[in-house]
Amino acid sequence: MNILLATEKPFSSAAVDGIRRIAEDAGHSLTVLEKYKGSELADALAEADALIVRSDKIDAKAIGEAPRLKIIVRAGAGYDNIDLAAATAAGIVVENTPGQNSRAVAELVVGMAIMAARNNYDGTTGGEISSKRLGLQAFGQVSRNVAEIARGFGMEISAIDPFCPAGAIEEKGVKAVEKLEDLYAGNDIVSIHIPATPATRGSIGHDLICRLPKGAILINTARKEVIDEAGLEQALAERPDIKYFADVKPDNATRLAELFGNRVFFTPKKCGAQTREANLNAGLAAARQIVAFFADGTDRFRVN
Ligand code: 3PG
Repeated sequence: MNILLATEKPFSSAAVDGIRRIAEDAGHSLTVLEKYKGSELADALAEADALIVRSDKIDAKAIGEAPRLKIIVRAGAGYDNIDLAAATAAGIVVENTPGQNSRAVAELVVGMAIMAARNNYDGTTGGEISSKRLGLQAFGQVSRNVAEIARGFGMEISAIDPFCPAGAIEEKGVKAVEKLEDLYAGNDIVSIHIPATPATRGSIGHDLICRLPKGAILINTARKEVIDEAGLEQALAERPDIKYFADVKPDNATRLAELFGNRVFFTPKKCGAQTREANLNAGLAAARQIVAFFADGTDRFRVN
């Protein structure tokens, strides 16, 4: 089988080598397509039996260009970049690699919290994150890693997750919160970890953000789509004490930076999962999942 690794944002060379080794040891071939342009993706998809991607957009058109495709593995957690309905209709299995890049994203969350607390390292008096209150919006793999790291800072941690029972949250030493409004009102730092779905798109807006206590920091390493950007701008204008730091640059990033200076920060390109370790974890897991699928139909991480 021909496995296509199509990454607009390339993995480290060690991860690509590891993926190739796993594919070839199992008798498959690997085609690597990085930073692609124009029709390059469509051309490569025409020959692919399996596909590994990151945030690369695989829409119905791309699926239509892949007549041999049997499996897509999103090497990462969020699969909102893949048209699941189109894949299912074409008989293509879609999987993700949950947890494999979570530590990297969690480290970035804590790094951003410190950077915000220290006024972007501009030399002025900042604050510490130690002993502060941290609220986690959703309690998946990234949140659990953030909680584990934050405990070392003596932070008071709480979380809300409609899909995770309160008992499972409390089991990890984290206080379960019932209402989202209370999570925002009760924490000095709130970190967003919800996926982009029809239900969550634009769900974090002016009213919710304005519930944050004085001097709070809002961190988004999840997806830009979950923010109501006009509402965010209005909240930042009304509340000169709060900050918004994101690894998922909003569409109005330039305007926000002009208006609010170092109260906002956006990475130039989403880099939460961009560590050598996460590239290896997610890339190798994706390759192994494809090998297992072709060996005996194993589809443990199927999402469609
Ligand atoms: C994920 O969903 O796994 C993260 O957002 C990382 O995405 P990336 O592979 O595009 O860096």
